[in-house]
Amino acid sequence: MTSDGSGAAILFDHVGKSFAQKGGQVMALDDVSLVVEPGTVTGIIGRSGAGKSTLLRMVNGLERPTSGRVLVGGRDVGAAHGAALREIRRDVGMIFQHFNLLSSRTVYENVALPLEIAGIAPIRPRVEELIERVGLTDLRDRYPAELSGGQKQRVGIARALATQPKVLLSDEATSALDPETTQTVLALLAEINRDLGLTILLITHEMAVVRDIASHVAVIDGGRIVESGPTYDVFTHPQHPTTRSFLGGVTGLTLPAFIAGRLQQECPEVEAQEVIRVTFAGAHATDPMLSMLTSELGVPVNILAGAIEEIGAHPFGNLLIAVDAAQGEAARDYLERHGLLTEVLGYVE
Ligand SMILES: Nc1ncnc2c1ncn2[C@@H]1O[C@H](COP(=O)(O)OP(=O)(O)OP(=O)(O)O)[C@@H](O)[C@H]1O
Ligand SMILES: [Mg+2]
Repeated sequence: MTSDGSGAAILFDHVGKSFAQKGGQVMALDDVSLVVEPGTVTGIIGRSGAGKSTLLRMVNGLERPTSGRVLVGGRDVGAAHGAALREIRRDVGMIFQHFNLLSSRTVYENVALPLEIAGIAPIRPRVEELIERVGLTDLRDRYPAELSGGQKQRVGIARALATQPKVLLSDEATSALDPETTQTVLALLAEINRDLGLTILLITHEMAVVRDIASHVAVIDGGRIVESGPTYDVFTHPQHPTTRSFLGGVTGLTLPAFIAGRLQQECPEVEAQEVIRVTFAGAHATDPMLSMLTSELGVPVNILAGAIEEIGAHPFGNLLIAVDAAQGEAARDYLERHGLLTEVLGYVE
């Protein structure tokens, strides 16, 4: 890619966006710069109100920047109008949390709609191919009300792909789905990314979604990108507190109920145990760090829960441990010096 980002699928170049609200201006985005390479899946993660949807909506011109530029395939979306904007939009498909299907149209007719609007013919073979790709051939004549959430999102995906876009935007597309359905929809998106080389920009508030599908991640907080890079790097070396707090929940690893129920934020005076989350990656994932902690520092460790999983092909681990609170700091120092991340979750007596 050239240094001006002209080879990027999407380039956010010092993008700012303010909205007029009661009581004054809201700065939804503040000097956001991000390069999205072609063929990547980039996760945008952040809390409610961080500016994620605003950022995404700039890619298809639903919002225009108040400062800076958004380029899609080198074309300035904010400056495009009329036919030029329609042409960009044809290259950018979008899927939504609540699917946004037309209830009076069947699966087939929903998928055909963008082709009708764009005047692309012939419609039938294209729609049939799309419906087959998302696994809905048998349901082609059903109405949205007759479909499950996962099936509706498959229709949404097929419809978004109808005009053969180069970029797919996803705004919380799995948030309304149960975990199992989420996995099947993410697998479908990954397959589309792989087979069609489609660039995917995906908003989520779940780090697990980023882990499962995104090659790159950008963390947005208060309208600013506070951290971005390859997912594995960000997961293993998070720099910003917001990233760290999102990562805390990523493994779904939870404390056993009998511990969780007794957890307190203040350290009790007597006989306290410090409960620590330890995150580790790469080579460390296979090191016997805890037994070294015990043998080298003499700190006994209670293991409360643990899991090793993969991001891409790399191991990524998470442990919940408890140590004598008086030795907590020394234990955390030791682990951090050996390249592990630690976070105090609380204390139990
Ligand atoms: N059309 C609008 N008019 C006024 N303010 C807006 C508008 N759209 C967004 N905002 C404001 O911009 C900020 C960012 O909103 P945005 O919808 O991008 O957040 P988000 O990260 O997508 O949040 P969520 O996770 O809740 O969807 C918020 O403070 C919001 O109130
Ligand atoms: Mg949003």
